[in-house]
Amino acid sequence: MPERTPYIAANWKMHKSVAEAGQFVDALLPQIAATQSDVVICPPFTALTAVVERRYGTAVKVAAQNMHEEDSGAFTGEVSAPMLVELDVEAVVLGHSERRQFFGETDEALARKVPAALAAGLEPILCIGESEEARDAEQTEGILERQLQADLVDVDGARLSEVVIAYEPIWAIGTGRTATPEQAQETIAFIRDMLRERGAPAEDVRILYGGSVKPANAAELMAQPDIDGALVGGASLDAADFAAIVKAAG
Ligand code: PGA
Repeated sequence: MPERTPYIAANWKMHKSVAEAGQFVDALLPQIAATQSDVVICPPFTALTAVVERRYGTAVKVAAQNMHEEDSGAFTGEVSAPMLVELDVEAVVLGHSERRQFFGETDEALARKVPAALAAGLEPILCIGESEEARDAEQTEGILERQLQADLVDVDGARLSEVVIAYEPIWAIGTGRTATPEQAQETIAFIRDMLRERGAPAEDVRILYGGSVKPANAAELMAQPDIDGALVGGASLDAADFAAIVKAAG
């Protein structure tokens, strides 16, 4: 099986001022100097540059938390992929469940955002996940299949290895209730099978788990054969906690 480089991303959501972002990066970098993993920080738009400037010369990459699918236009309040690239941002989180739930992010928009990110040279981190009701009703696989099909409809199979997938069960986000390593492994293996059917070099695609990842559970989750890393919310706000999760990836 090909070695996939572990990928650990800090999703700060709407947290941290410019000053706080700078302090975090200064505290984090010495703690993760030895890592061989991809470490990605996703600050709010306002703190992107503060993180970009501090991470030059390190292995840390910077991702935005959203973008618009058009390059420019009359879309008040939006930011485009070329604007992020101009700031030396390298990746973008797309389809986070909070954007789907609170801001009307649709699969139709994501079907345009993923190729727009790739075209601009940004690495998309596409989030998919099921609700608690869907899991209880045993509809998880159908929901994930629909999301993946719809969001990746215009991405060539060969380019799918450039997309990072984050499996984030909605019932595990910010709730303290983590999927068990077995649940997460089983679901992520299913996602890999779907990507294979879709013509992707599925063994090369990084698939992350997200939802209440903490220093105490990160190693066990990431030891699973198909779990290639983590998208971390709450525990990514503290540099020591996030560094411990990065180290847990090996
Ligand atoms: P959490 O958030 O780690 O706070 O559960 C994860 C996410 O929303 O990406």
